[in-house]
Amino acid sequence: MLALLVPLLLAAATPAHEPRGAALYATYCASCHGADARGTPDGPSLRGVGLASVDFYLTTGRMPAAVPWLEIGDRDEREGQRLAPADIRAIEAYLAPIVAGGPPIPEVIAGSNLEHGRALYALNCEHCHSANGDGGAIGGFAWAPDLHHAPITVVADAVRAGPEEMPRFGERQLSAADLNDLAAYVIGLQTAAPPRGVPPFRSSGPVPEGAIGYLAIIVLVAFVFTYWRESTPPRDREESVRRDEGERA
Ligand code: HEC
Ligand code: HEC
Repeated sequence: MLALLVPLLLAAATPAHEPRGAALYATYCASCHGADARGTPDGPSLRGVGLASVDFYLTTGRMPAAVPWLEIGDRDEREGQRLAPADIRAIEAYLAPIVAGGPPIPEVIAGSNLEHGRALYALNCEHCHSANGDGGAIGGFAWAPDLHHAPITVVADAVRAGPEEMPRFGERQLSAADLNDLAAYVIGLQTAAPPRGVPPFRSSGPVPEGAIGYLAIIVLVAFVFTYWRESTPPRDREESVRRDEGERA
């Protein structure tokens, strides 16, 4: 009797999310990720990717993608295609057993040690997202987005899920306490006034800055070259003039 009752009670306790999630998945995701989430030519398999990744892609509006393999530079219109929060929760409930194995959605609260958060940011994030979180080019046509729009849950999701070129930071690299301090620091960057006493140009990331360096060298070489040419008159021209004058005399 009890053996019969327990599954019945469990079934009653399961939120109505699941059938709705399945229907939403079929509508918005299956065409690219496959009805069984094992992937199609239009999208990768979602087996074992972890709920942190699903939450990141759905809450930022990166998914459902309008076009397969759309690159991040074009995803600025992503806000427009974001699903409603209730739909996102339903899809996550449906996908939970399918994506199990990867990082779960991290629990995050704003930590209080901002100095520690700043140090972690400088060590792990700054070289891609720049010191003030403006983002920048990271080479190979990839672009790290600015961090001025991501809510704290998205920051935490991104750190654990490591979307695309971004590395995945596990608990061993960044503990839960580290993540709280780091996330608080990133959120602080969104409201911080630009620091005083810095040059008026903003950091545009390592690749454009490197390009500016090369440009400076090219300009310098060009300058030295023209100056050197002007200050040393062509010798054979002078000689031929002298020769002409000698012949005339
Ligand atoms: C038009 C095709 C398309 C649709 C529709 C689509 N996706 Fe995707 N999805 C992709 C492609 C392509 C990628 C590969 C990465 C990228 O370009 O961002 C991807 C990547 C992902 C990832 C990251 C996988 C990883 O390795 O971490 C998740 C999670 C995801 N999609 C979930 C969804 C969900 C959930 C839906 C439905 C709400 C959805 N996608 C709808 C094409 C699509
Ligand atoms: C190797 C370069 C790289 C490093 C290091 C890196 N990221 Fe990223 N990050 C990226 C890229 C590329 C994306 C965009 C991924 C995508 O669109 O799928 C991204 C996306 C994000 C986003 C989503 C922003 C948004 O609004 O969509 C957040 C938040 C983020 N990163 C935070 C961090 C934090 C915090 C760290 C340090 C722990 C970090 N990243 C380290 C490259 C990097």
